[in-house]
Amino acid sequence: MAAPGSSVQAFGNHEDELMSLSPENTATRIAARVDEDRLWRRLMELARVGATENGGVCRLALTDEEIEARRLLIDWALAIGLSVHTDDIANLFFRLEGTESDAPPVVTGSHIDSQPTGGKFDGAFGVVAGFEAVQAIQECGVVPGRPIEVVAWMNEEGSRFSPGMMGSEAFTRRRPMEQILAVADTDGVRTAEALERTLALFPEIPRRAFGFPMTAFVEAHIEQGPLLEELGVPVGVVTGIQGSRRFRVRVTGDEGHAGTLAMPDRKDALFAALEMVGAMRRAFDTDQVKFTVGLFQVAPNVPSVVPSSVLFSIDLRHPDWQTLSRLGDGVSGLCEENRGPCSVTVTEVATSESLEFPVEMRTCIGESAAELGIANTPILSMAGHDARQLHYHCPTGMIFSPCEEGISHHEAESCNPSDLAAATRVLAATIARLANQALAGSRG
Ligand code: GLV
Ligand code: MN
Ligand code: MN
Repeated sequence: MAAPGSSVQAFGNHEDELMSLSPENTATRIAARVDEDRLWRRLMELARVGATENGGVCRLALTDEEIEARRLLIDWALAIGLSVHTDDIANLFFRLEGTESDAPPVVTGSHIDSQPTGGKFDGAFGVVAGFEAVQAIQECGVVPGRPIEVVAWMNEEGSRFSPGMMGSEAFTRRRPMEQILAVADTDGVRTAEALERTLALFPEIPRRAFGFPMTAFVEAHIEQGPLLEELGVPVGVVTGIQGSRRFRVRVTGDEGHAGTLAMPDRKDALFAALEMVGAMRRAFDTDQVKFTVGLFQVAPNVPSVVPSSVLFSIDLRHPDWQTLSRLGDGVSGLCEENRGPCSVTVTEVATSESLEFPVEMRTCIGESAAELGIANTPILSMAGHDARQLHYHCPTGMIFSPCEEGISHHEAESCNPSDLAAATRVLAATIARLANQALAGSRG
């Protein structure tokens, strides 16, 4: 889909003006054009798509709501003269042309899918901040050297098709497409079918190949934890992401009559599963480990029948990869030891090592914040993000903004407009700098 008219050109090529300005001046001018009200208006407009009664959003990947959100982003992009592209996994890219149109773009963005009872800002902020940053750059009359793109990665959350991060994993070729396409949701709809339907609704959007080179990727995101708010600092320069290991455990027993089957003769899959969860809870009870059993399905799930089958998930996270490896390696044994008369199968469905973002990206973000006089602090991401995948593709960094009481993956998720604007100013200055600077170590 081409941008209508020549609105990018209409801003003129101000390369000479740009060259004559110090980076500080450019950063300040761009940051001054970040419009807090416009940023907030767009966030609230997006939050209306899939809005829940309790003030959150439900926008599962490739559903009608998420497709409506795609249309909204496309409208925003065309209105400001960005061109639109997609790919075989339905990632969406919105491009501001640079003077060197063949140069690998600087890319920013996040995701627009949500948890079923998600908040308005998780993911959405990174995409909307990308639009605001690009528009601020345009309004300064600055044409970047390298192109700048805003991306909405498909299915970061993994709440409909699990595990998530499908868009960024397919793009970076870190998960085979055949594996992704075969994943089915709880209604039996496969990712392949949902993708076909979604892509067919946007036939005019040109498709790109996966893995095109990028100069850098910068993701803005809400912190989803309490630290920035506690410190009273509006911007976090993310140092890295803690590792995670995710498992599915299937416990199989046998059905029986709740009134007649003697207790010693039962193969109760629920009781076995509870023993396993209890044992893991005790074994993983250390300071920093995060242990979550978020999915728990019992069959046949009726009051008078002994449960014959349980499927549950394990989400295990720790900043130190060696500790996480050791704890994760213990999962199978703990399940086996506590299965009683039932049988158990443990499958590891996703493994992500703890990672550190490159120092040059952290420095670039920190210096951009410092130039703008915006207080900032280094911070480790406890949540997973698409930036995790992009880290293996090109120099990658993240910018965090506080959220109220650290509440996230919750309909009550809430953020302060001026904090979000501060992080967006830092994002705008950072991507403008990356688009105009030589950056060592660019991969792709
Ligand atoms: C991302 O949503 C995560 O669960 O870390
Ligand atoms: Mn997110
Ligand atoms: Mn999330």
